[in-house]
Amino acid sequence: MLRYFIYAIVFIVGGSLSAIAFHLCLAHFKNAKEMAQYKTADAQIKNLGKVLVVYYSLSGNTRNIAEKIKDKTKGDIYEIKLKEEFSRFSAYAAMIKRAKTLPELDGQLPDFSGYDLIFVGSPVWAYTLASPVLSFLEQVDFQGKKVVPFSTQGSNEGNFEKDFKNKAKNAVALRYAKFNNLSKKYDKAVENKISQWINGL
Ligand SMILES: Cc1cc2nc3c(=O)[nH]c(=O)nc-3n(C[C@H](O)[C@H](O)[C@H](O)COP(=O)(O)O)c2cc1C
Repeated sequence: MLRYFIYAIVFIVGGSLSAIAFHLCLAHFKNAKEMAQYKTADAQIKNLGKVLVVYYSLSGNTRNIAEKIKDKTKGDIYEIKLKEEFSRFSAYAAMIKRAKTLPELDGQLPDFSGYDLIFVGSPVWAYTLASPVLSFLEQVDFQGKKVVPFSTQGSNEGNFEKDFKNKAKNAVALRYAKFNNLSKKYDKAVENKISQWINGL
């Protein structure tokens, strides 16, 4: 009896590890294929008028992309902050009860009136926007402004784009861009991807 129990455990654990390894390999090859398109030299950025980059970041990936957009567009930057910041663990807990409660924001909301273009960046949490960004979108009205969503994620952004468009009140949403977490060797390609995306807006 014990023998069959051990077989079952080995089968379940082994199967799960193989599925994870397969998924990671697939993501690795997809990333390499995508980033190969951006090996060319970084492009000059066209003038987009006055730009604001709004973002939330728990572990720094979205901040990294937001800073790059800010530098390239010579825009302003606004970080969404919480009254009580999440740890990774509490972020998972918050994600689970997101339907009921959104986190409380800290600080004043930005004034969009002087901006021609507003980027809004969020990590993907459970295949959609991170809850601090949902809190932000619940409180703001873009009043017909052009808004450009972007996300960072492990490898699966799920419904991010669709959910963003549904939540961003009165925004004219422009082309969304997603950035998987990549190793340093892709830094130049990521810069180039950002430039090409911005120039295509
Ligand atoms: C609570 C939580 C949920 C996550 N859910 C997803 C997910 O559904 N899909 C995915 O690809 N990555 C997911 N991730 C990974 C993050 O989206 C990814 O690491 C992101 O770049 C983190 O951005 P940040 O460093 O700006 O916080 C999740 C991370 C956390 C903390």
